[in-house]
Amino acid sequence: MDEMMMLIEAEPSPTFVETPQIAQIAERAQSYLQCGFPIHFSGPSGVGKTTLALHVAARWGRPIALLFGDEQQSSSDLVGGMSGYRRHYLMDNFIRSVLKTEDELTQRWTDSRVTRACQQGLTLVYDEFTRSRPEANNMLLSVLEEGVLAMPAIRGGAGYVEVHPSFRAIFTSNPKEYAGVHATQDALYDRLVTLTMDYYDQDTEVAIVQAKTGLGAEEAGCVVRLVREMRDKAGSAPSLRAGIVIGRMLRLHDTRADAGNGLFRQICIDVLASSNGRAESKAILEKALKRCRWKKGSGIETAAVQTAAVQTAAQEGNGNGT
Ligand SMILES: Nc1ncnc2c1ncn2[C@@H]1O[C@H](COP(=O)(O)OP(=O)(O)OP(=O)(O)O)[C@@H](O)[C@H]1O
Ligand SMILES: [Mg+2]
Repeated sequence: MDEMMMLIEAEPSPTFVETPQIAQIAERAQSYLQCGFPIHFSGPSGVGKTTLALHVAARWGRPIALLFGDEQQSSSDLVGGMSGYRRHYLMDNFIRSVLKTEDELTQRWTDSRVTRACQQGLTLVYDEFTRSRPEANNMLLSVLEEGVLAMPAIRGGAGYVEVHPSFRAIFTSNPKEYAGVHATQDALYDRLVTLTMDYYDQDTEVAIVQAKTGLGAEEAGCVVRLVREMRDKAGSAPSLRAGIVIGRMLRLHDTRADAGNGLFRQICIDVLASSNGRAESKAILEKALKRCRWKKGSGIETAAVQTAAVQTAAQEGNGNGT
């Protein structure tokens, strides 16, 4: 039950980029939290919802209970469950037909991390909550409105948990996603303050690509302009992640964002023009690429930026690559 949940110490990430646009939405979120309201970052894939949710939660300063929406999750998974059943098999090496099975049943109730978050006043970050079935999320209705979490009788005690005054909840979801996503009950939406996110402005995307890859401002700018042009014209939706992938590949191969560079062109085709399978995507990309010209002195700005970003890339590179 707990595999999909994590309890993490709140600590702002050193690689988090905060431009005026990000600071503005983070402050809005913070002020709703201060008033005790649960918030919900809603927006397309790759706009930075999860990163921002974790950042806002970290700034809030309480430990974070992280939960991922999942089709398989049930309401009882969210509150807790019985655990402690063990079965032993003993195979006799001398008399092969002897197989002794020993069952040990010492079941006891284990609270889920949502329950602990409610009880101890932690910050619940529920990422992609619409991937869970609406009935699984029903238990949150009374948590968010009445400050009470109903518990099954088998747990013993009062049959409910009172929600700690420091408890806060931050949700994320992607309204455009349709595979594996459930329509959420109005009652839950009604309890959340939804902050709609769209792709960040160009300066913010450039700052993030720079921070995550170590590219200089000019090159990161060129990569981000390509990504944004494909987003606007090619009918695909490359996000910040595409810019980060291209930037890291440039760094890995120690090569330049330049239209005359075959390797760069190939990386751009792979990352930006292949996923939707449309022939016109490549034509749009070719046209956009013409504007990418690397000039001497427009590369990595300082050794310090380069080193920090390469370290970050190395730390994160074995994860989801972004
Ligand atoms: N403020 C930021 N500072 C640094 N990196 C960021 C920031 N915002 C987003 N990113 C990076 O951009 C990428 C996409 O961000 P994130 O995963 O938060 O998007 P998302 O909206 O949650 O996407 P999805 O809907 O697919 O889950 C990640 O690699 C993340 O590290
Ligand atoms: Mg996310």
